[in-house]
Amino acid sequence: MESKKSNPIGLFDSGVGGLTVAHAIHTILPQEQMIYYGDTAHLPYGDKSRDTIIHYALGITDFLLEKRCKVILIACNSASSNAFDEVKEHVGDRAVVLNVIDPVVDYVAGDETIRNVGVIGTKATIHSKTYEKKLAGRNSRIGVSSLATPLLVPMIEEGFVFDDISNAIIRSYLSRRELAEIDTLILGCTHYPIIRNQISRFYNFEVNVPDSSLIVAEQLQQFLGERNLLSEHRKHPDTFFVSEYTPYFEVIANMFFNEKILLEKKSIW
Ligand code: DGL
Repeated sequence: MESKKSNPIGLFDSGVGGLTVAHAIHTILPQEQMIYYGDTAHLPYGDKSRDTIIHYALGITDFLLEKRCKVILIACNSASSNAFDEVKEHVGDRAVVLNVIDPVVDYVAGDETIRNVGVIGTKATIHSKTYEKKLAGRNSRIGVSSLATPLLVPMIEEGFVFDDISNAIIRSYLSRRELAEIDTLILGCTHYPIIRNQISRFYNFEVNVPDSSLIVAEQLQQFLGERNLLSEHRKHPDTFFVSEYTPYFEVIANMFFNEKILLEKKSIW
């Protein structure tokens, strides 16, 4: 593979969700340079067909390959569950392609205390049954119940995160009988770590809600370390691209990175 340790890590999502993963990477791997693409013009991915998600994912992948990314991390569950194989095949040996689902499945399957898992995510992720299939392939001891929670992404993208509206929507979804018996809740959408605290609070902190972005970043660190691909020093600042300017993208990104980010509008299609 023609890639250098100091080449950037490319990540993409439909909007601000993947920033939760970018933030976790920035925290544990500050020497890595990231190039982030938020496809805000086509948000939400969770309501799109598989073919449409694949089309967008391949377009963004080409853009990240042009930027010489050593890794392409699909920082979106909807695209990870519907387009991972296609992106991987398209990229071949030009870069490493990773998704955000396998690290969480590894984490859950490896925890002996977990018995009943709930998964919440977009319609595209939940209907693909990717978490069920991967968990069943790893550990038959674990029961899995899934629930599509499609209002959460538009709610978060519109900035309703710490208020009565978000609390009412979260409460309404999490009270559903599908999630009644769970001991662990997988946040199967990269937007959801933004509301992880409210979710934990709904359960009085009695249900385990793993920090999926941190789990993904830690597995990335291990993966790069094992392949001698960890950057030793960062040469360029992180760059963020969006397909459409949205006021909330910049607010969330500045909040996560604690400084004004470099944001550019870039149309791919
Ligand atoms: N953050 C994404 C995910 O993990 C996409 C949500 C959406 O655009 O519907 O699924």
